[in-house]
Amino acid sequence: MNNNTQQGIVKWQSPANIALIKYWGKAGHQIPANPSVSFTLNNAHTEMELQWEVKPESNELDITFFFEGKENLKFRQKIADFLQTRVVQYPFLKTLKITIHSENSFPHSAGIASSASSMSALALCLCSLENIFLNTLNDESNFFHKASFLSRLASGSASRSVYGGLVTWGKIDGLENSSDEVAATLQAPTHDIFKTYQDAVMVVSRSEKATSSRAGHALMDAHPFKEARYTQARSNMQALIKAIAEGDTNTFGRITEEEALTLHGLMMTSEPSVLLLLGNSLEIIHKLRTFRNEKRLPICFTIDAGPNIHILYPAEVKKEVDSFIVAELAQLCESKYWIADHVGNGPKRLK
Ligand code: DP6
Repeated sequence: MNNNTQQGIVKWQSPANIALIKYWGKAGHQIPANPSVSFTLNNAHTEMELQWEVKPESNELDITFFFEGKENLKFRQKIADFLQTRVVQYPFLKTLKITIHSENSFPHSAGIASSASSMSALALCLCSLENIFLNTLNDESNFFHKASFLSRLASGSASRSVYGGLVTWGKIDGLENSSDEVAATLQAPTHDIFKTYQDAVMVVSRSEKATSSRAGHALMDAHPFKEARYTQARSNMQALIKAIAEGDTNTFGRITEEEALTLHGLMMTSEPSVLLLLGNSLEIIHKLRTFRNEKRLPICFTIDAGPNIHILYPAEVKKEVDSFIVAELAQLCESKYWIADHVGNGPKRLK
């Protein structure tokens, strides 16, 4: 760092992602029990600006956090807890007064998981700081590798948000360089059709989830189906990678739906049981399957740890599917609210 530099600003935009093969269960601290793969989204993202200034005394972390213009102590605590774990590697953190402003492109109460976009945005800002203070991340590929590593420590699924397109995280047999510690762009052929995928999110409920993902993962530790689940996830991963290479939208849809329903099946059969699907979630799934049977279109759904249904389809059928959504599904969403998104290219540095 230039010794005269006493203050500065870094700013990143980082997207949400939607998993096709689900990360559910941990095999150690922020180590996934099975590999996962997701689409990085385009429209749903967090913009995070981190202002720093060198303070006279270097002792404690000094962080102020604003979410959508208002100071937010709950998020501040989450961020401060994470940064506290980084102080040994990044002693400069204690020498700074840090003010963070964060905004999401999607409404807070839209039921879209914000931890992937927000924690990856934070990790990207942290890597920019590392480069300013330690000058160690000038190489672009090292930069994003480190950002994915730090994102994972903050929130596992966030590790996949630092790359665009289809992104894997976790060791996969036969896939070189796949790792439990960092995500990477899918290292296998991708048929062009999967580069155009749309994700229409049917917002069945805008309420915040009662169970955090963190608590949900822990329910897998004693789950009676745990080993069978991890075996299934590994084999689904191999089959999905093959379907993606071949442009096989039927197999893609079958596996993607199986993964979503398995996730919810596991939650429902946990001790205690977690039931997040609502009546309208099931109604949407039934309607979607009827529509697919009639029209024979490459359309499928996936679900996060919540009641909202993500409808996935290639751009070539967008007109027809969007008309179906407006005519049949929007009325099943809270206040008829649904979000049109599609596969995106990953984070952008704004400052
Ligand atoms: C259902 O990444 O939110 O969305 O690592 O504890 O922060 P932590 O969990 P998190 O879990 C995401 C679970 C999921 C599936 C997925 O995104 O793969």
